[in-house]
Amino acid sequence: MSELPREQWGSRLGFILAAVGSAVGLGNMWRFSYLAAENGGAAFLVLYIAMVALVGLPVMLAEFVIGRGSGRSPMQALAHFGGNGWRPLGGLFIASGFVILAYYSVIAGWTLRYAIEGAVAGFGGDAEATFGAVASGTPAILWHLVFMAITVFVVAGGVKKGIERTALILMPLLFAIVIGLAIYASTLDGAGAGYTYYFDTSFAEILSADVLKDAAGQAFFSLSLGMGAMLTFASYLSRENHLPNESVFIAGSDFAVAFIAGLVVFPMVFAFGLGDAVSGSTVGALFITLPTAFSEMGGAGRVVGFMFFASLVVGALTSAISLLEVVVSSAVDGLGWGRRSAAIVAGCAIAALGIPAAWNTDILGLMDQIAGNFFLVAGGLALSVFTGWIMTEAMEEAGVGAPGVRWFGLWRGLLRFVVPVILSFVLYHTAVDTWKAIAGFIR
Ligand code: TRP
Repeated sequence: MSELPREQWGSRLGFILAAVGSAVGLGNMWRFSYLAAENGGAAFLVLYIAMVALVGLPVMLAEFVIGRGSGRSPMQALAHFGGNGWRPLGGLFIASGFVILAYYSVIAGWTLRYAIEGAVAGFGGDAEATFGAVASGTPAILWHLVFMAITVFVVAGGVKKGIERTALILMPLLFAIVIGLAIYASTLDGAGAGYTYYFDTSFAEILSADVLKDAAGQAFFSLSLGMGAMLTFASYLSRENHLPNESVFIAGSDFAVAFIAGLVVFPMVFAFGLGDAVSGSTVGALFITLPTAFSEMGGAGRVVGFMFFASLVVGALTSAISLLEVVVSSAVDGLGWGRRSAAIVAGCAIAALGIPAAWNTDILGLMDQIAGNFFLVAGGLALSVFTGWIMTEAMEEAGVGAPGVRWFGLWRGLLRFVVPVILSFVLYHTAVDTWKAIAGFIR
């Protein structure tokens, strides 16, 4: 056990921006826009909002309450409120952090390369061939390692001097860039077709189990829930913070960035007649279609393209930091390691695990399915049961720093009944998908 007093955030804004930084990432731009495209635009949007409010918000508040109440990393935090039988859940969180960061860093490496090469050489050429060259083999491994090194550097710097400072500088920058890009996109001839696509809905699609599953999974991924990342960040809080307000603000900001990213991506893509590429959308869509649009913008495309990928890099970095922090804080609390050595050792192990994903995007997709979908939904389900049924102090802890809040009863009710029912349903469908993905991969 470490003898030093636990580190703390330097300011309320620092914590909030770090948590928003965790939430806002590749999920908002890359994952959200291709899921929205796949699942009928506004229909997905509506269902996604419902999932954020009914499932995401309650679980986020649960993570905050467990983290702040215990002042510990996930394993000890769960043991503190629920007994040692809950430790393995903390183990699942650490495993999720490992796997998600391993492939997340690979995609972040692609964005880093796109940003730098786009600024230096522009976005011309055969976009599909370029993506193929960026996204596999040795170059993908190298850029992944570069990105991991930056992440390790920040986390090794500590909660206040590394994580908080990075968020305070980078998050305002990210907001400014994304809003600027959305304004620019609205000035393009033909942007209207993009808005029509984004907001025009076939509400028939909203009722399918597939859309529900994608919306719930995306809510978890985008809000950084289900693996103790928010829990860990909250463990560095003092008891003054108003956790309900914090949760609403963080979830709201995350949604706003995803929504605005849609206002960037769809107009740009449709203004250049690339709409077909979006509806046939997959993992690579953003990386193939948008550079094509950038190259057709002429001179402005280089700046706009650089800004776009730079904002992705920023979002990815502040998210990667939170993923690594779960593993690092667990090693510090559980094994008594120093922060710096924990960051380096964990960083190297995760970097190694990412190498197969960098080598081959099918492996990356499989890791996303197993950890990014299945583990998170399973973790979220367990967290809702834990906070709703096991942790007797939940309501009381939530009320600390938040006097007079009248919806804690509703919160508990959601955690006890609504969240477990929705997530059990989603978990079943996700398990089937995951099983199919594994079987398909082995074959
Ligand atoms: N939320 C981030 C994104 O949208 C990814 C992320 C960071 C994450 N930390 C997490 C996802 C913890 C799940 C759990 O890109």
